[in-house]
Amino acid sequence: MSFRRKIVAGNWKMNNSLAEALTLVDGVIAHLDPNTITEVIICPSYAVLAPIHAHLQGMPKIRLGAQNCSEFNSGAYTGEVSAQMITSVGCQYVIVGHSERRTYCNESSEQLTQKMKRALENKLHPIFCIGENLEERNGAKHFDIVKGQLKNVLSTFSLHDLKELLIAYEPVWAIGTGVTATSAQAQEMHAFIRKTISELFSVDFANTLPILYGGSCNALNAKELFACKDVDGGLIGGASLKAEDFCKIISSF
Ligand code: 13P
Repeated sequence: MSFRRKIVAGNWKMNNSLAEALTLVDGVIAHLDPNTITEVIICPSYAVLAPIHAHLQGMPKIRLGAQNCSEFNSGAYTGEVSAQMITSVGCQYVIVGHSERRTYCNESSEQLTQKMKRALENKLHPIFCIGENLEERNGAKHFDIVKGQLKNVLSTFSLHDLKELLIAYEPVWAIGTGVTATSAQAQEMHAFIRKTISELFSVDFANTLPILYGGSCNALNAKELFACKDVDGGLIGGASLKAEDFCKIISSF
């Protein structure tokens, strides 16, 4: 277990109506260990952010994040949601570069750099996602891919800009598949990410940067993953939709 901040974030993806979302939040509140040292973030869909923010009043332990933001500030971009709007409904975090968006929406490093800028300008803490797909891992390209993803976006920024950054390593082959990275695979990549960050910025920054693991992390395997020296928590998909499981993961340090 690391000495860094411990963070568990739930990425609800495109799930839950308003009523379902409020029920899930109530479940998380009910099952959450009041003494937990873990920072908890939930990332529901845009549609329910404002009512969930209202519902979370008096629950400072649970922070709110969005799953994406626009690369633009405002204007004629039908269907898009800006970082400023996200902040205005109570979000402190935003996921940038999730592999589902890189794949289905063709989000490029240039776009992700702009999204990161908008997030930082609006005082949002970005959760920047990186990770290789199965073909890249099988071809032993995973380190190069991850290094490229980090460099292509983060090298535009200064250390000062990135002080609120979180990174999530999410191997694409582990997302929603039930196949999780082994703790050895996760530790190896997290240590590599930290080394890359220390080369791009500084050793001190790398040593304090929270790096979360995502990809079929659940109530059964979280303890082993979180026990790894360079794994500081998780970005949880499917298992964050079940309050009891999510809270077990939160208590897995
Ligand atoms: P699963 O936990 O469902 O594999 O999803 C992980 C993920 O994509 C979190 O962002």
